[in-house]
Amino acid sequence: MKNDAVKKNVLIVYAHPEPTSLTRALVDVSVQTLQEQGHTVALSDLYGMKWKAVFDEHDFPARADTERLSFIAESGHAYSTGRQTADVEAEQAKLLAADAVILQFPLWWFSMPAILKGWVDRVFAYGLAYGYKGKGNHYRYGEGAFKGKRAMLSAIVGGPAEDYSPRGINGPLEQLLFPITHGTLFFPGMDVLPSHAVYGSGRITEAGVEAAKAIWRSRLENLFDDAPIPFRRQNDGDYPDQHVLANHIAVDQTGLLAHIAEKAEARVTGAAEG
Ligand SMILES: Cc1cc2nc3c(=O)[nH]c(=O)nc-3n(C[C@H](O)[C@H](O)[C@H](O)COP(=O)(O)O)c2cc1C
Repeated sequence: MKNDAVKKNVLIVYAHPEPTSLTRALVDVSVQTLQEQGHTVALSDLYGMKWKAVFDEHDFPARADTERLSFIAESGHAYSTGRQTADVEAEQAKLLAADAVILQFPLWWFSMPAILKGWVDRVFAYGLAYGYKGKGNHYRYGEGAFKGKRAMLSAIVGGPAEDYSPRGINGPLEQLLFPITHGTLFFPGMDVLPSHAVYGSGRITEAGVEAAKAIWRSRLENLFDDAPIPFRRQNDGDYPDQHVLANHIAVDQTGLLAHIAEKAEARVTGAAEG
């Protein structure tokens, strides 16, 4: 057992309604492995909870402006005045109590299922996950309410690993997941670990499932030791105006990878199909 002196709180948010799915099998591995390490595990089973995925006017029972619905203004108002819905408050409390957050989901259309996206849309309130301390974008990308927490994605992927390889037809998985790792988790300050994937989930054999569980188990054992993706922090000097990279940083580089520090390309660990 690693880190036996350090007991942490881990929140697992997962999105699969089928108990016999590979996603659920890997969620079970998460719970068991983390508990065996002495950590306290909280679960958000979004389908089981019948999580309301759609962010709409019902999220704001006490509107600041009843004439026109501005999501950002109402989110900030509801959060700061304690008038959010109970389900959102409960998830925020779980998130704030967590030292690490793991999102486990089947890859659907190169992203997370809508119910999980809806968890982010509704739980990541203005004043908390963005607009932190009422200071607009001052605290973002490495700073914010979730600083000090770790996060990791565990994606169960139908297609074969080669489709997601550096020159694969779908594009590299870590780049496809960038809006989640960088734009959603690093944005409010979390340290995001390289994502984990199980490929070829649709035609995986029993032996492949066992291998995938073992690899995931060993990944979890390093949850609090692995180095995070070295995303560049907004307020550490690489973005002098808080918007654009300085000319001397990532010279001649554009696109997503420019926001990851040199010599440390994001990598996905994972089990190939078997
Ligand atoms: C709506 C939908 C969208 C999907 N999109 C993708 C995709 O973008 N890439 C991919 O490789 N597989 C895709 N798949 C396949 C799923 O990733 C695959 O069915 C899932 O990983 C199986 O895992 P499970 O046993 O946990 O359901 C999709 C499946 C569904 C139902």
